[in-house]
Amino acid sequence: MRLGILGGGQLAWMLAQAAEPLGVSVAVLDPSPDCAAGRIADHVVAAYDDPAGLDEVSKGADVVTYEFENVPAAAVTRLAEHGVPVLPFPASLTITQDRAREKELMAGLGIKVAPYALIDSADDAAAALDKVGAPGILKTRRLGYDGKGQVRVKTADDLPAAIAELGGTDLIYEGLITFTRELSVVVARGTDGSLAVYPPVENEHRDGILACTLAPAPELAPDQAELAQAVGVSVAEALDHIGVLCVELFDTPDGIVANEIAPRVHNSGHWSIEGAVTSQFENHVRGVLGLPLGDPSARGVAAMVNIVGTEPELAALLAIPGASVHTYGKSPRTGRKLAHVTLVADSVDALAVPLARARVLCDAAWDA
Ligand SMILES: Nc1ncnc2c1ncn2[C@@H]1O[C@H](COP(=O)(O)OP(=O)(O)O)[C@@H](O)[C@H]1O
Ligand SMILES: [Mg+2]
Repeated sequence: MRLGILGGGQLAWMLAQAAEPLGVSVAVLDPSPDCAAGRIADHVVAAYDDPAGLDEVSKGADVVTYEFENVPAAAVTRLAEHGVPVLPFPASLTITQDRAREKELMAGLGIKVAPYALIDSADDAAAALDKVGAPGILKTRRLGYDGKGQVRVKTADDLPAAIAELGGTDLIYEGLITFTRELSVVVARGTDGSLAVYPPVENEHRDGILACTLAPAPELAPDQAELAQAVGVSVAEALDHIGVLCVELFDTPDGIVANEIAPRVHNSGHWSIEGAVTSQFENHVRGVLGLPLGDPSARGVAAMVNIVGTEPELAALLAIPGASVHTYGKSPRTGRKLAHVTLVADSVDALAVPLARARVLCDAAWDA
């Protein structure tokens, strides 16, 4: 079997790694000549909307999938014209490319989300403040990631300037949720509707970027864990999503509030390579190719620490007992995800010391 992937970054790289032992060959489309996945997959160097590039990446492919949600609609149309299935289906993209449609979908499913109002001009500020109040967060509806395209609004007076800063139109203003921590849930869904639901995890962010994931989320009450998983399942089913998706959540004293949906493998699922029986990457490959899904259960407890900006010395990381290092081969740049390290142990206690060592090294690299 053969899989085409739109995007050749680290997510595609880990998808290609998961595909390899299954005998599935991979081609990626990515304009960057030195993209992470290009090291191990056939690499078509072209823009995502380049017709010849799309033809090339889908040549001989059973399915084409994607590693990022901002796939141009024209790309999907071009692939569909050739009769190559694109999975997840385009509906997963069109809804999740737009924070407003994403929130509308979840609210319609009875999932708790932050209060929100749409802003298309400075004139919408007053009505948005009436509905949502302050403080809040103003976000672009499209193309935001890692905290980019967002402005915190402390008081009502700050909203007009924030609107101007983000371009004045196509914005969403959300009430600020007071959360105790952030969680996420990863769900894989097969072409037959079968499900593999990972245990919900706890995520710590820094500068708007994921810094650390603990899996499963420590001390999450069983009813809240079930609720988080039910949120993931109902979103996957509502989208008729095939493959992996992730829902980011806030844990609050009043229960779980959903934040956003990623229609793809997710950074908060990287722990599953070593920490789960079947990783999110393998389950995405299995799901889109119509193969049976694997077991998403955790093997013990895991922590994943992101390496951002610069990389710690490899030898120092590998000196931590049980550390598994994944290096994406990207050049260092402030705020850029370069690698991650995963630790797996039998208990939260046994994880504490190696995790602390990894955090010290990775935090220092982030600061450098
Ligand atoms: N409504 C909100 N209330 C409180 N914090 C929020 C809210 N929306 C976003 N955040 C914070 O900002 C981070 C990034 O926002 P998010 O909507 O996840 O965008 P991105 O696509 O950049 O990840 C979240 O992980 C959370 O820490
Ligand atoms: Mg997010």
